[in-house]
Amino acid sequence: MCGIVGYIGHRNVSDFLIEGLNRLEYRGYDSAGVATFDANGAISLRKRAGRVCELSEAIDRDPVEGTVGIGHTRWATHGKATDENAHPHTGGNGEVVLVHNGVIENYASLRGQLQALGYVFRTETDTEVIAHLIAHHLDEQIKLGGEPESEDTLLKAVEVSLRKLKGTYGLAVLFRARPDLILAARNGSPLVVGVGPGEHFVASDPSPLLGYTEQVVYLADHEIAILTADRLDLRHRDSGRLSPSVQTLDQVSADIDKGDFEHYMLKEIFEQPQTIENAMRGRFEEDEATAKFGGLNLTAQQLRHIDRIVLTACGTSWHAALVGEYLIEEFARVPVEVEYASELRYRNPPLTDKTMVFAITQSGETADTLAAMRECQRKGMPSLAICNVVGSTIAREADGGVYLHAGPEIGVASTKAFTSQVTVLTLLALYFGRMRHLSYQAGKRMINNLKALPEVVARTLECHDAVQEIASRYLGMDNFLYLGRLYNFPVALEGALKLKEISYVHAEGYPAAEMKHGPIALIDERTPSVFVVPRCGIYPKVISNMEEVKARKGPVIAIACEGDREVADVADDVIYVPEVDEYLQPIVTSIPLQMLAYHIALLRGCNVDRPRNLAKSVTVE
Ligand code: F6R
Repeated sequence: MCGIVGYIGHRNVSDFLIEGLNRLEYRGYDSAGVATFDANGAISLRKRAGRVCELSEAIDRDPVEGTVGIGHTRWATHGKATDENAHPHTGGNGEVVLVHNGVIENYASLRGQLQALGYVFRTETDTEVIAHLIAHHLDEQIKLGGEPESEDTLLKAVEVSLRKLKGTYGLAVLFRARPDLILAARNGSPLVVGVGPGEHFVASDPSPLLGYTEQVVYLADHEIAILTADRLDLRHRDSGRLSPSVQTLDQVSADIDKGDFEHYMLKEIFEQPQTIENAMRGRFEEDEATAKFGGLNLTAQQLRHIDRIVLTACGTSWHAALVGEYLIEEFARVPVEVEYASELRYRNPPLTDKTMVFAITQSGETADTLAAMRECQRKGMPSLAICNVVGSTIAREADGGVYLHAGPEIGVASTKAFTSQVTVLTLLALYFGRMRHLSYQAGKRMINNLKALPEVVARTLECHDAVQEIASRYLGMDNFLYLGRLYNFPVALEGALKLKEISYVHAEGYPAAEMKHGPIALIDERTPSVFVVPRCGIYPKVISNMEEVKARKGPVIAIACEGDREVADVADDVIYVPEVDEYLQPIVTSIPLQMLAYHIALLRGCNVDRPRNLAKSVTVE
């Protein structure tokens, strides 16, 4: 949440900052701003409520100069989305200017203390506290004899200030006294430094750096980076100077292009045959009829010892975890619990060292998922990650894990990450299954089915025109139910989440048979039910649930297997998908629901890639 970008070097900083903010806009988009040093060493500020394009227009009208600056795109936590509350924020009399991602929990008491010292607050944000606090400690250091321009003085002021903050931060700071320097610091909110010849970059994630440099250093908590054009110094709050570990990015700028698609979300939906293939690549051990993983970092002996698995995640990733529960329990016979990370982090369930934890996350930065994983690690449980973003905090802190290799997911609504997560969970179910009860033949069958999946998903995408047409008939409806059973129950939850988050239409997902215990009261002519009803062991029972809805005049849209006439006799509209084994159905049946949400949102005039109030990477609690 919130995107930070900074640059120091020889390029036109304004161009770089605006391009970087556009690339980071998925992290928050209610206001944006930049601060740059001009040729005379003065700091210029431009801030606007609204999207980055509005800031960019303001800068076109009133340009900023220079080759050093910082920028921010905001997802509001404290204070409304106004010009004043937009970052960067200024401390003291303009000695310090900074951008911040995160939440300062003790801001109210710090604000009181600083006001008592005479500092004047101009915004409602928690961030302004950090700016004044650093300005205050800078002043104190100078009174103690520190040179105002000395790096040592600035660093001490920052270090003392950061120790007083409770909460999370990613920070990029400019000092009026030092136009040749940017300071970046992190605790709980991600920051990556880009290294180039005669230039350095800082950003919340690598996307602004693509096309500029491939060499990056990921900051860890309590690290401070001092950037000049030619130098990167890294320090840890407790252990002092560190030598930066430079890594090479494996992304290219084409990965973050929309290509010929109107929206990232549609592009990402259509990428799924490829992303599912990527999730499986190199992960079959054909001779042993099992899967293999390079990064679990546990021996077969240790893995066999596991008697319980906890899958923890948020949002869409939590829905993937629910599918994982069904998969692992069916094929590996290991008990699985699915925990909301936001609950697990504060609960105290009886977990043992025989419990294995998987944190499932696209971004690898979700604050609750990270905290839940850390809590489990603290208690001695092996904690692994199923993660998309390489080098993210969760990927780095996990004891091991599996990457999705889905490429950047930029649409705020998660699509391809979900199907990749489910693919990886299917591979894990196969792997754990083959270590325990699953036969060689059953393993072989799973591998063959999985290998056929990219082709099946490509055929699934052919329902796009039908979905678009159906969407146009339901776009005026304000309440939807999504219903499915067994493997398709999490799909119903995910379909409902997709619709509500991007079209602002109320939708609820339920196990189809649970409907009778309450939600059936909602059914009327204006409340459509989307039934996920591919052929499965309890197919006739789901058809009965559909009949119950029809008997109450509820419109029914069904997601069904190709050639299914029985469903067509009951439902008002049917979207056909290829038939696959039950355990693979979520990958196939979720796709038309992604498309349905996309088209309803589009027809309702919503911003599909940037839905209101949301941000891609939820780095605050
Ligand atoms: C929904 C969506 C969110 C995320 C959730 C977890 O479309 O994108 O619900 O799934 O915020 O994010 P990650 O997977 O990055 O931990």
